[in-house]
Amino acid sequence: MIFESDSLVVLETKIRTCELCALADTRKNAVPGSGNDDSKIMFIGEGPGHHENEKGLPFVGAAGKLLDELLQGIDLRREDVYITNIVKCRPPQNRDPKPEEIEFCNAYLERQIDLIDPKVIVTLGRFSMARWFPGARISDIHGVPKRFGLRIVVPMFHPAAALHNPKWRPMLHDDFSRLPGFIAKMNAEDEDNNGPQMVPEQLNLF
Ligand code: URA
Repeated sequence: MIFESDSLVVLETKIRTCELCALADTRKNAVPGSGNDDSKIMFIGEGPGHHENEKGLPFVGAAGKLLDELLQGIDLRREDVYITNIVKCRPPQNRDPKPEEIEFCNAYLERQIDLIDPKVIVTLGRFSMARWFPGARISDIHGVPKRFGLRIVVPMFHPAAALHNPKWRPMLHDDFSRLPGFIAKMNAEDEDNNGPQMVPEQLNLF
């Protein structure tokens, strides 16, 4: 059970001991997320893989190395951002997360977003993208931010996809290169009291 009063630490403990779905039976470690819990930018991947399941930390395998490289390219370190996943436990054999697993985990993600309150959310891959852009194709919308209330969500290719298919790598670098501009714009808006209240929900102003 998640309560409005739960802090991030309490939430992380609940995630680590969660038994809401069958992924609890096969995981070694749940992976709540890591990074700066006061960050303006949050990255949301798909779900833990082998290495993440071993360590209880997100993006510590090959895709994580590429994510580090992409962050470095825009002068950010892991400690500057918050990184989590759409499902917090590893689906066996790295299969796709099932809709009901995503649904059960959604309450944790929602609370993480409430608590961290990022201004920019970057979805990595199609499962986190589908939460905000149902039915969209990543190849059509990657890198294009869309406003959701006081935040923007930027869909991007998953780093693992760029590792499997190197032709997507320059696109991912290119999409990342525009993030500092989005962050600066959202920060400026955050400081302007009038701005956010005048922004209609779900309108793409970028
Ligand atoms: N892929 C993801 O989507 N998340 C991780 O944490 C690791 C790999």
